[in-house]
Amino acid sequence: MKKKITTEPTRPCPLRQGLFLVIEGIDGSGKSTQVELLARRLRRRGLQVVTLREPTQGKWGRRIRELSKTSGSIRPEEELELFIRDRKENVARNIKPALEAGRTVILDRYFYSTLAYQGARGLPLEEIRRRHQKFALVPDLVFILDVPASTGLRRIKDRPIIYGHFEEKDYLQKVRKIFLSFRDPEVVVVDGRPPADVIHRKIWSLLLKKFPQLK
Ligand code: ADP
Ligand code: TYD
Repeated sequence: MKKKITTEPTRPCPLRQGLFLVIEGIDGSGKSTQVELLARRLRRRGLQVVTLREPTQGKWGRRIRELSKTSGSIRPEEELELFIRDRKENVARNIKPALEAGRTVILDRYFYSTLAYQGARGLPLEEIRRRHQKFALVPDLVFILDVPASTGLRRIKDRPIIYGHFEEKDYLQKVRKIFLSFRDPEVVVVDGRPPADVIHRKIWSLLLKKFPQLK
């Protein structure tokens, strides 16, 4: 008899529809690490999980990277336009279809990053929010990993610098301050300084509080 290969899900999905979860924070706060840990845990719980990140690998995301490399500093207004275009495409092509198919989406950076980073470049937060209202789905939960700018920078010091001004300490301090100012009901701030497994357990407990059926 042919051997049956089972991949995920490993148990029946405990939810009727997929979750939309976002991990945010300054550079080096540990987002990618937590996205992976959370995805693994949710897959073990029987959920179909898609992990995504912004800026994306699509044409606008690639453009953002190119411009950051070649022209030093782009004007904040132009930066905002590019991040919004990239996000619109991500919502329409990746996020919405995945959620509609019942998958759980874990997204590394979303419009909260635009508020924090482009806000720290002087653009009004109200304007940035308004630009997102028409198209940006609101997540079920957003975890902001909070670390001091010096910690984030220390953790990524060996990474090649792609985004010049995004990775300077004074700037990241401003970015962090905006991240900590959000009062949206879906946002929770999580201390990003402890070891990764400790942070993961905290995130998991916060998620269970909101979705006890995942237990
Ligand atoms: P981000 O995606 O926010 O830039 P990463 O998850 O890529 O952050 O982490 C940046 C670096 O810090 C990596 O080398 C990673 O292994 C390390 N790291 C991640 N989480 C922690 C943590 N909680 N404590 C110490 N180092 C961490
Ligand atoms: P990052 O998550 O570091 O992507 P990568 O892994 O491709 O380097 O994001 C790149 C930079 O872009 C980061 O410094 C934050 C910045 N950024 C904004 O300024 N605004 C945004 O809306 C987003 C999504 C990112």
